[in-house]
Amino acid sequence: MRSLALITLLAIFGCSDANRNSSLPTSTTDEDLMTTPVKDIHSFAEPSQAIMQHLVWQAEVDFDSSLITAKASIRISRDPKAESVILDTKNLIIDSVKTGPPGQESPCEFTLGEPDNLLGSALKISLSPNTEWVHIYYRTTEEAEALQWLSPQQTSGKQQPFLFTQSQAILARTWIPLQDSPGIRFTYDATVKVPEQLLALMSAENPQEKNGLGVYQFKMEQPIPAYLMALAVGDLQFTSLGPRSGVYAEPNLIDKAAYEFDEIEKMISIAEELYGPYGWSRYDLIVLPPSFPFGGMENPRLTFATPTILAGDRSLTSLVAHELAHSWSGNLVTNATWDDFWLNEGFTVYFENRIMEALNGRDYSEMLALLSLQGLRAEVAEMMETNKAGDTHLKLNLKNRNPDDGMTAIAYDKGYFFLRWLEERSGRSVWDRFLVNYFKENEFQSMTTEQFLHYLQKNLIEKQHINIYQDELEEWVYQSGLPDNLPEPVSTKFELVDAALISWIDNDSLPASDQWSTHEWLHFIRNLPEDLDSNSVKAQDVNYNFTQSGNAEIQAAWFEKAIAYQYQPAYPAMADFLIHVGRRKFLTPLYKALSQTESGKEFALQVYQDARPNYHFVSANSIDAILGVSNTD
Ligand code: BES
Ligand code: ZN
Repeated sequence: MRSLALITLLAIFGCSDANRNSSLPTSTTDEDLMTTPVKDIHSFAEPSQAIMQHLVWQAEVDFDSSLITAKASIRISRDPKAESVILDTKNLIIDSVKTGPPGQESPCEFTLGEPDNLLGSALKISLSPNTEWVHIYYRTTEEAEALQWLSPQQTSGKQQPFLFTQSQAILARTWIPLQDSPGIRFTYDATVKVPEQLLALMSAENPQEKNGLGVYQFKMEQPIPAYLMALAVGDLQFTSLGPRSGVYAEPNLIDKAAYEFDEIEKMISIAEELYGPYGWSRYDLIVLPPSFPFGGMENPRLTFATPTILAGDRSLTSLVAHELAHSWSGNLVTNATWDDFWLNEGFTVYFENRIMEALNGRDYSEMLALLSLQGLRAEVAEMMETNKAGDTHLKLNLKNRNPDDGMTAIAYDKGYFFLRWLEERSGRSVWDRFLVNYFKENEFQSMTTEQFLHYLQKNLIEKQHINIYQDELEEWVYQSGLPDNLPEPVSTKFELVDAALISWIDNDSLPASDQWSTHEWLHFIRNLPEDLDSNSVKAQDVNYNFTQSGNAEIQAAWFEKAIAYQYQPAYPAMADFLIHVGRRKFLTPLYKALSQTESGKEFALQVYQDARPNYHFVSANSIDAILGVSNTD
């Protein structure tokens, strides 16, 4: 049924110019499109048989062995005729499985399927006619890809160990047996035992201080998909930032963190004014150790953040706006499969930009939009040259691939520009009203690209009589490259930077840069000519101290240039950066650039020996591929 609906929709979109009208699939097809569950190729779950609804997780975190021992009790909703429920697992040791209401458990049959390198093993649990609960007693292993266990030395305070998880996209199954598909939502309760001197936090209602016992209770009452399961354990302290927000960090970082994120309450209010009430009650942040592989992760009620945004001047807080925006786009309305990833990230970049516009003015947000456009154009050009045109479609096809492959500028920035284009074609007030309803009407549900297009057609294009044609939508969503009618951000601030660059190149005159923000500096560095002589490179560095900048974005952009210029004085600081920072967005371009010359590759391999033990699996996995190192090395 589902594929029929899809084919019909594609057929209509497919007939392009001949059909410049706003016709839609017939009404029976509409119904299917909005209600039939979609198959997720990255999960073994069979939702038509049984779907998990609630998880009770009881766990003990052991830093000596770097393992979690746990019991996962799962309540399911099922077809009465279903003979089994299938959960996703990867690299877990299953000790036993029982069924029956909590307290009345009895052993049951189960099988663990052949492991797949990417997807792990299907845990198939036999059900009796009335079974509603299954209980899995299990342990994690050293191969738990979501988990990173840090020694005290790898933390900021250097006194206590630290553990954090990163479940998105399909790594939740490496620490909890569950249905690891973004289209399946459940609530959860947890009891977690950790060493007494540490605090545990989850993507749930959280404690604000240690209780001396090391046993913490958690509750997440709103249904969430598995990729939002999260846990952090460490020597953590809390500071309140407002009535419903605060920040957790290691004690020696807490003041810096509180300063950096001071605008958070304002951001929440702005976001609510734009797209409706914040639905998760509290919004807290946690600053993780520098090996955290992402800038931020939108774990509900508790955004996980890299310490590399603690720039000391609040200049990198658009990342907080981004993760906060996910509380609507992603966490309330969730991409149904990883092929629809742009629905999470494109919407979030759009929303982030709107928050930053309201907070700092259009001049500011247009700088962000231009940086996004520059990154997008570069990445699209590279993909087109390397035979990856298919990956430039908003709607992806990640069959037999790691969903991580979808984390490109396409989902984020092409997604952003598509939504900005829709805004420009509809007019802002009509568009904003549409989005408020979109979040409200679809909250706590998943969304496919086709369902979104259908919703758009009905609720924006038809209802508001907007002149947007099917073939235009089809080009944005299903075709490669970038449409000609891509919106063009205008940034006078960047025009001034461009002019300063030209006059510096022509007359050696230094730019009047006293008032420049981090974004202007990034634009300046990225646009430095490719063929600078070594004296000019040095002059730049001496003047502006890029190599030693306290701002990780500036350092990362500068190191990329330093590699192109083979500017040796930057290399020791670059090695230090690569060893201590595990944020993949910074690492990938640097290792790639280094790999392009023989001496660079040698340097990279050398540094990587010291750096790899500090990286989380997702970063190590990406850098292994770039350097051609096998992950057993
Ligand atoms: N949800 C993503 C991170 C992610 C995506 C993890 C896919 C695993 C798989 C998060 O919201 C994100 O986009 N982070 C960005 C922030 C940036 C765009 C402001 C990052 O980490 O760089
Ligand atoms: Zn995001």
